[in-house]
Amino acid sequence: EGFDVTVVGSCMTDLVSQAPRLPKAGETIHGHKFFTGFGGKGANQCIQAAKLGAKTAMVAKVGKDFFGDSYIQNFKDNGVHTECVFQASDAATGAASIIVNDAGENAIVIVAGANMLLGTAELKVALPALRRTEVLLCQLEISPECTLQALRMARQHHVKTIFNPAPAVPDLDPDFYTLSDVFCCNESEAELLTGSPVATVEDAHRSSQELLRRGCGTVILTMGARGCVVLQAQGAALCHVQAPAVKAVDTTGAGDSFIGALAFYMAHHPALPLEEMARRANHVAAVSVQAVGAQASYPSRTDLPAELF
Ligand code: RIB
Ligand code: NA
Repeated sequence: EGFDVTVVGSCMTDLVSQAPRLPKAGETIHGHKFFTGFGGKGANQCIQAAKLGAKTAMVAKVGKDFFGDSYIQNFKDNGVHTECVFQASDAATGAASIIVNDAGENAIVIVAGANMLLGTAELKVALPALRRTEVLLCQLEISPECTLQALRMARQHHVKTIFNPAPAVPDLDPDFYTLSDVFCCNESEAELLTGSPVATVEDAHRSSQELLRRGCGTVILTMGARGCVVLQAQGAALCHVQAPAVKAVDTTGAGDSFIGALAFYMAHHPALPLEEMARRANHVAAVSVQAVGAQASYPSRTDLPAELF
């Protein structure tokens, strides 16, 4: 009847250039390939959850333009409920300029556009969907007020929340922590939020303890090839969950693949220990880094070993 996973978040058209390295300020370099793709952290997470078999709904705003129309079609093609994907006539669909180097690393500039116009009026329309969902997923590519409001609505209706503070801001409203059942960030986001460097697994442990103190239920700090650390307020000790060793071609959206997978497991296999969900989500994300693009590289259920389901 309801949804497994609802995302209140962003849609971006990714404009991707592959180049040997990232250019310096003022520099022009030759790249070897250009492609466009469907991106935006919110939509990426939603699509990964959908590809694993979750019943998903997206709450978002795109432009009334070619990119917006194709984006809505993309959701439909992936079985995502689009009744709450709105089109603004006064702003363009969000865009992300992405450069990927030969090591699979990236640099990204986003222009959020229509994403910033998602607000109270749209959330009101989305409430019936939101209140009958297992898990709500939010990020920081739409207005922070809208994200906070969505998290508050979820809390009020006893919906589990996963919050991904990306892209991170140093002065995050303290309510984001208390409204997060699972607070999931990467090393650089944790650095910005806590003010201390996260270079080692030990740093990650310390950092997640600090984030947990701010009031979230659980902290998951992702560390790329090194997997993630999981720290739960209730009981259990800190734990480091290793990721499979793979050769990365393009890590764009790997964190979103992880979070989308995590949301799928929380909704579909709620009895699994969180560390086991994280282990499986690491596996899903490891597949995504082995192909170019964000959503274009996300595995479906049929691409993955049966033991993950
Ligand atoms: O997390 C990866 C995503 O960040 C890209 O798809 C891009 O759109 C930016 O939002
Ligand atoms: Na990828």
